[in-house]
Amino acid sequence: MPGNEKELQRLREAARDCKACPLWRHATQTVFGEGPADARVLLVGEQPGDQEDLQGHPFVGPAGKLLDRALIDAGVDRRAVFVTNVVKHFKYELRGKRRLHKKPIQREIDACYQWLEREIALLEPRVIVCLGATAAGALLGREFRVSTRRGQLVRSDLAPNVFATIHPSAILRIRDAAERERAYEQFVADLKLIPGLE
Ligand code: URA
Repeated sequence: MPGNEKELQRLREAARDCKACPLWRHATQTVFGEGPADARVLLVGEQPGDQEDLQGHPFVGPAGKLLDRALIDAGVDRRAVFVTNVVKHFKYELRGKRRLHKKPIQREIDACYQWLEREIALLEPRVIVCLGATAAGALLGREFRVSTRRGQLVRSDLAPNVFATIHPSAILRIRDAAERERAYEQFVADLKLIPGLE
């Protein structure tokens, strides 16, 4: 196993027992980032959802399926990309039997940041894409606005190329089909930046 791969495995194992914030109590498991240890592109979401929590892998639920399709349409090979989240435990509230996503608070984001920081240090990606406001807030500052700066390169010490776009879940929440399609096309247009930057 090459050095980075081993180091990543060590990190993944250390994160398995993380109790830095209370979210571990109600989550099934830590959902650590996944992808090749030499990935040049890092995609960062908010936190695992219901399916991710149950399966133990990032972006495997409905938002992940949309992301997969968008990456294909943007000409990006997901297998060459490392996908992770700012917060690595699922936060939810129970509504009957349903577990509804709940936004992480700053304290939880801060407690979990150590893992994202170490993922970035290990991978040294050429491109980091923040998917949505939580990722952009954690990596680019809380005053960063995805709505006005999406798809624009941002100066950052984290990687040579960093930009933000919307979270795929935001597209899934749009009820009007035509509007949803437009939002999807715009998302793909943002992701098309990646191949020119890697
Ligand atoms: N939403 C996220 O931000 N991350 C996932 O892994 C799944 C859904």
